[in-house]
Amino acid sequence: MRQSNLKLKVQANNYPSLQLSDRHLCDIELIMNGGFNPLNGFMTKGDYNSVVQDMRLSDGTLWPIPITLDVNDKFISEISNTPKIALRDKEGFILAILKVEDIWQPDIQLEAQSVFGTCDTKHPGVNYLLNFSNKNYIGGKIEKVLTPHHYDYQELRHTPDELKSIFKKNKWDKVIAFQTRNPLHKAHFELTMRAMKEINANLLVHPVVGMTKPGDVNHYTRTRCYKHIMNEYPKGSAFLSLLPMAMRMGGPKETLLHAIIRKNYGCTHLIVGRDHAGPGLDSKNEPFYGPYESQEMLKKYQNELEIEMVPFKFMVFTPKSATFKAFDEVGQSEEYKTLSGTELRQLLDNGKGIPEWFTFKSVANELERSNPPLTKRGFTIFFTGLSGSGKSTLANGLVTQLLEQGSRAVTLLDGDIVRSNLSSELGFSKEHRSINIKRIGYVASEITKNGGIAICAPIAPYQEDRMFNRDLISKEGGYIEIFVNTPLEKCEERDSKGLYAMAREGKIKEFTGISDPYEEPNDAEIVVNSSGKNPEILVKEIYEKIVIMGFIEENK
Ligand code: PPS
Repeated sequence: MRQSNLKLKVQANNYPSLQLSDRHLCDIELIMNGGFNPLNGFMTKGDYNSVVQDMRLSDGTLWPIPITLDVNDKFISEISNTPKIALRDKEGFILAILKVEDIWQPDIQLEAQSVFGTCDTKHPGVNYLLNFSNKNYIGGKIEKVLTPHHYDYQELRHTPDELKSIFKKNKWDKVIAFQTRNPLHKAHFELTMRAMKEINANLLVHPVVGMTKPGDVNHYTRTRCYKHIMNEYPKGSAFLSLLPMAMRMGGPKETLLHAIIRKNYGCTHLIVGRDHAGPGLDSKNEPFYGPYESQEMLKKYQNELEIEMVPFKFMVFTPKSATFKAFDEVGQSEEYKTLSGTELRQLLDNGKGIPEWFTFKSVANELERSNPPLTKRGFTIFFTGLSGSGKSTLANGLVTQLLEQGSRAVTLLDGDIVRSNLSSELGFSKEHRSINIKRIGYVASEITKNGGIAICAPIAPYQEDRMFNRDLISKEGGYIEIFVNTPLEKCEERDSKGLYAMAREGKIKEFTGISDPYEEPNDAEIVVNSSGKNPEILVKEIYEKIVIMGFIEENK
């Protein structure tokens, strides 16, 4: 039972409230439970500047990544001269009171460059910072009212104090932490077994279940996989605990943070493998960081860290001996096998089984159950384009084709349908259009999650809103954006609803293409132009492309 500090809770009612984001919720939990020790609040301007510039708090303590409370302009305008603010979770529970020490507008480009070494938004940490984070920071100490609540896997969640007392009770004086955001496979199992043996220690499997890299296997599936793999370790040698951390995918600097957190959780060692906390490839298809840069970083600061690194090279499978070996142990002409995350995803997408040398059968079953082949997975088709561009005609044609094919339930969310059923109170300001598009995105993501097909056809003139939906829906299944790039002149010439004429006369305000902007997408999967083309032929072409992408089985 969570105990709240009643006195503080009553006090908090006098202060303006801020609803925390997913990232804030992860961060505040680690601040409050000591996982982020010595932090006792969200960073003040002094600490933030010092961390960005020198990787140290202003008192000199090593700290690699800023932990900040970002808020929007509206909130800032509401809190002038307020000494404290109440921080609430998504259900409205007050978690903490923050004493406002600093409010400032950070240079986020500088932050991205210094912390992540790049401003390339292919880096998930940079993308979050530049495209999703608010542009004002508030810093100050927090007073705890209530610990964030988790409905899931409560028996697998522990505070640092709880873990430390479990280690003590088990007389584990050497504990190696294994950090992960992926399901564990045989190579990881082998590596952790070796680590335990090498230094005669016990193992803490400590996966991150807060925020990881977009596109990762969801934490429910992963936790089921972890539970299976825990049965493979010798009895009493290893322990599983879930870490509510928000990863930044910051490579070497994030590795330092992982080490600090694991030290706080009572571990004596941390396994650091190849490309630890790596964000993948940049927009030029180059890795953001070197494969062993994280190990080098930890080595450099080893003296200041009260936890030791157990470095590991990349593990590969050698069929001849049917064992896993570190890459540098493989003989020159010896055959070896690896399977990258992308290759694994492809096997799942195409409904091909996962090879037995790669993972335990129990883990393979979980992954196959949670990731059915593309032909059985839900997906969204998101048409965008000017009024009169042909979105509705194409969407309706496609709905019919997909219903005839019959593999999934199909829902049409056309602009007009949504406006009358979901968004009847909204107008056409930027703010209202944004709400409208996000509502469509939310409904489409639910349909996609449940294995159906959502066909959306709003104007959706703003890139930011389309990107928001893309991110949201891609987490649940397929997402295909179709830009109906029919020129404005053609749309106006058609003027099937007579709206362009009225817009020209000024009788309709904020009309897209006439008196309101349309930001053309440059990331759409399919681009079509409906002028001078029979819509039925266009629908067939779109359908064929969806078949090629793998979402629909070819008609035999
Ligand atoms: S948005 O921007 O995506 O929220 O717009 P959407 O919901 O798709 O718009 C649906 C239909 O509203 C009609 N309409 C307007 N469109 C653009 N600008 C203004 N000011 C406006 N006022 C009314 C228009 O017919 C849209 O339908 P389509 O099917 O695109 O022609």
